[in-house]
Amino acid sequence: MEQVAFFDTKPYDKEWFNKLNPGFKFKYHEHKLTADSAGLAAGYKAVVAFVNDTLDKETIDRLCEIGVKLIAMRCAGYNNVDVKYAQGKIDVVRVPTYSPYAVAEHAMALLLTLNRKIHKASNRTRDFNFSLNGLTGFDLHGKTAGIIGTGQIGCIFMDICKGFGMKTIAYDPYPKENSDINYVSLDELFAQSDIISLHCPLTSSTRYIINEDSIKKMKDGVYIINTSRGQLIDSDALVRYLKEHKVGGAGLDVYEEETAFFFEDYSSTVINDDVLSILVSMPNVLMTSHQAFLTNEALQKIAEVTIFNLNQFYNGEELTNRVVI
Ligand code: NAI
Repeated sequence: MEQVAFFDTKPYDKEWFNKLNPGFKFKYHEHKLTADSAGLAAGYKAVVAFVNDTLDKETIDRLCEIGVKLIAMRCAGYNNVDVKYAQGKIDVVRVPTYSPYAVAEHAMALLLTLNRKIHKASNRTRDFNFSLNGLTGFDLHGKTAGIIGTGQIGCIFMDICKGFGMKTIAYDPYPKENSDINYVSLDELFAQSDIISLHCPLTSSTRYIINEDSIKKMKDGVYIINTSRGQLIDSDALVRYLKEHKVGGAGLDVYEEETAFFFEDYSSTVINDDVLSILVSMPNVLMTSHQAFLTNEALQKIAEVTIFNLNQFYNGEELTNRVVI
């Protein structure tokens, strides 16, 4: 029986993999995959990893030393894998798409909750506090949403915004041909948007695409939504401009230093990250812990495609979902 070692696995991950398992022996580790934990994959040819595992040169070397031949990412993004270094040493596959709807809908949930302060209202009413003071939001109708990255998720988010009667503009260095998307330059997007939502991948050219200079170009009170990757935003700059009310609100499903914290329960610990602590404590910031993907449909698809990838690998077939750079 072919054995597969999973890392950073939680109960919600296992459910669909166990349901759809065609006969592999899955070994689930709660640990994140790093150079230190890679040894747990000794004796396995394939590892299954996730967004906050660290697949740098050191981890890849360690995996190769112990005979691992396949890194199967159970996600779309692979910015945490040194793919260039892996080339020729170990195969890397991924799940290119699972549910773009899950992520786009979560982006809108962040925007709606943040703007209409539903989280605060819910806490108040649970305490029989029925006051409305401080809960004023704004109409989304007629506002301009600026979408950075018009791939699968960005386009669905754009359609959702249109459903709310919003104007939409977008920036993408690779614009979709023959579409009715209103593309503008990045600077125009910064200047015109009431809400900016990030839907581009993390690359060397998108790292800190939201920084001090770009925030200065934005409208006063702009809302920023990030369901893509934490390092798209310079968090220090974001905190500074949130404090000055230049940025009116931030809905964040990702954070640049999330690897150390996300998916784990630190509720009884004083965490050692001042920026994260400030962001979490701000009244105009709403954070979720990289959960935009977390729907039944997405989890099912992730399991289906990962098992497809594992089957191709163990059958010696061409890897359809191989990551190439
Ligand atoms: P996609 O590949 O369909 O679209 C990405 C788009 O970004 C493409 O149109 C591409 O041309 C564009 N792009 C590339 N460089 C750019 C730049 N410099 N500026 C603006 N746009 C640029 O990807 P998809 O499926 O829409 O996913 C987008 C991102 O969402 C992923 O890269 C991933 O980081 C994130 N994601 C987050 C999840 C979560 O749970 N929070 C789950 C799944 C994806």
